[in-house]
Amino acid sequence: MQPGQRLVGKVAIVTGAASGIGAETARAFAMHGAKVLLTDANAALGKAVTEEIVGKGGTASFAVQDVASESRWAEIAAEAETRYGRIDILCNIAGISGRDPRQNIQSGLIGGGRIGDQTLEQWNKVLEINATGTFLGVKAVIPAMQRAGGGSIINISSICGIVGSHSNAAYHASKGAVRIFSKAAAIQYARDQIRVNSIHPGFVDTPMTKPGHSNPEVAQVRLDATPLGRFGTPADIAAGCLYLASDDAAWVTGSELVIDGGMTAN
Ligand SMILES: NC(=O)c1ccc[n+]([C@@H]2O[C@H](COP(=O)([O-])OP(=O)(O)OC[C@H]3O[C@@H](n4cnc5c(N)ncnc54)[C@H](O)[C@@H]3O)[C@@H](O)[C@H]2O)c1
Repeated sequence: MQPGQRLVGKVAIVTGAASGIGAETARAFAMHGAKVLLTDANAALGKAVTEEIVGKGGTASFAVQDVASESRWAEIAAEAETRYGRIDILCNIAGISGRDPRQNIQSGLIGGGRIGDQTLEQWNKVLEINATGTFLGVKAVIPAMQRAGGGSIINISSICGIVGSHSNAAYHASKGAVRIFSKAAAIQYARDQIRVNSIHPGFVDTPMTKPGHSNPEVAQVRLDATPLGRFGTPADIAAGCLYLASDDAAWVTGSELVIDGGMTAN
């Protein structure tokens, strides 16, 4: 991504910023002038991404965070506001798939992964991080955004929040929750000029999808279902986050931005 000026003067929190889509979004935000608080459960990787951004002249810091902890969210919001003076942008990207990497969501390539195989413990873990973590993040930053006179919240859902598949209903449920929660939040805080939108990536090459995509059989079925004929890159999704975070999207709220190489159009 080319550097630019689209977020100059803005302060952003990016969760899941140690890896994949979150790391690339943090890089893009900093490259466009935002001051960025990166957070992640993985401190070592998160610090490395932050140091890389600072090394290239960006303004960034790192805080370790479990997005499922409400008390930690209060500390993260306070840290961003204390350190950088305000919060303009929250990007909720941290997430887990909870999926057996061999499973192919289009064809049910291997057996298992259906609702009858799902334990309550797995279900609760996926919902807690993907859905509850997003709710807690939004709740935590709203007062600061109200003080700042508005803001932009971007919640990473998935194409799995729009369509179902052969396996991992917990992930679908969690991402469907993120999708509709984002619309509810958009309505509730529009008067405060707080915009809330969701992004729905298709299959993107990241550490999350690596186990599946390094299996040629799984990868081929997924590619065959992707009209543009390639997997997404973290930069493809970061570009959407950058748009929604910027004032170019000043009249965009409650929307769902699908970035999936055409998969769900088919
Ligand atoms: N890669 C894809 O194909 C794809 C497709 C659709 C949606 N998504 C979503 O995009 C987001 C990013 O995924 P990715 O592919 O970059 O995966 P990734 O595994 O590379 O990154 C996810 C990050 O979230 C962090 N994380 C996990 N649990 C956490 C917790 N409780 N608290 C704080 N951080 C935590 C991990 O440490 C990791 O750094 C996820 O929400 C994922 O569901 C990914």
